[in-house]
Amino acid sequence: MRISIREPRAGDAENHRAAILRSGAHLRPWNPVEPDALPGLLRRQGDGLRTYLIVDDDEARNAGGDGGLVGTCNVANIVLGRFRNAALGYDSYLPYAGTGRMSRGLRLVVAQCFAVQPHGLGLHRLEINVQPDNVRSIAMARRLGFRHEGFSPRMLFINDAWRDHERFALTADEWPAQAG
Ligand SMILES: CC(C)(COP(=O)(O)OP(=O)(O)OC[C@H]1O[C@@H](n2cnc3c(N)ncnc32)[C@H](O)[C@@H]1OP(=O)(O)O)[C@@H](O)C(=O)NCCC(=O)NCCS
Repeated sequence: MRISIREPRAGDAENHRAAILRSGAHLRPWNPVEPDALPGLLRRQGDGLRTYLIVDDDEARNAGGDGGLVGTCNVANIVLGRFRNAALGYDSYLPYAGTGRMSRGLRLVVAQCFAVQPHGLGLHRLEINVQPDNVRSIAMARRLGFRHEGFSPRMLFINDAWRDHERFALTADEWPAQAG
């Protein structure tokens, strides 16, 4: 399988919407299901937020297919200066969830985050915050080499409540040696 990452564009909105709609049951326990999120995400792209689409290149070439949209990763809360830190948020979509494609794509995103500017984002540290029962996302964080750092009570407002999160982190010097 050939997996790549790229920045989203306005023409992705329809495939993005369809991917989220068919993945509702898969996403809903852990993240808001927002089929019409892409235009808003595009408007917010800038110094503090970079979004990457994870794409199966072979499927993307299929005319009339689903665009090969494996998932989305937001590199959010980007702060440069002495911190050079960001938080990763991600969703995979059916029918690609659970096939190993998302892991490959997120490895490319992490590499892009740690690559020096201007090609990469020049970051030093990444966080992944995961609800304690989200086994698949915790497995993903560990597969990418993230360390468990701690527990953050009532950290994020998701599905109508402030949810506890486990905090995982990775610094550039640990990458890629720690990745599984
Ligand atoms: C968390 C989430 C992004 C993980 O994505 P995913 O689609 O499961 O990612 P992958 O397919 O790369 O996962 C790898 C799994 O596929 C398996 N796999 C299947 N085929 C594979 C292949 N050909 N190559 C490698 N791995 C393969 C891996 O072994 C692994 O299984 P395991 O976790 O049981 O060990 C996804 O479950 C999701 O979107 N969840 C809902 C939203 C969410 O929780 N977001 C994160 C909030 S913090």
